[in-house]
Amino acid sequence: MKMSKKFCNCRDVTYADIMKAIRGGATTADEVSRVTGAGTGCGRCREALDYVVRDFLEEFRAESEGTLGI
Ligand code: FES
Repeated sequence: MKMSKKFCNCRDVTYADIMKAIRGGATTADEVSRVTGAGTGCGRCREALDYVVRDFLEEFRAESEGTLGI
């Protein structure tokens, strides 16, 4: 996935911004939303934010545990 790709057009939030929020300690979509503003405009991306945050959290935790095997 291209991390510079826009996730939330209303608040100008990229996938990289979401990962940055997670690396900064956010652990839920609500927390990421509070930090980045994602999902606080029209709301169209809010449901997708749940899935993206879940996937990125798994990725981040795997990295932190060194289980990616790279
Ligand atoms: S596209 Fe994210 S709130 Fe509108």
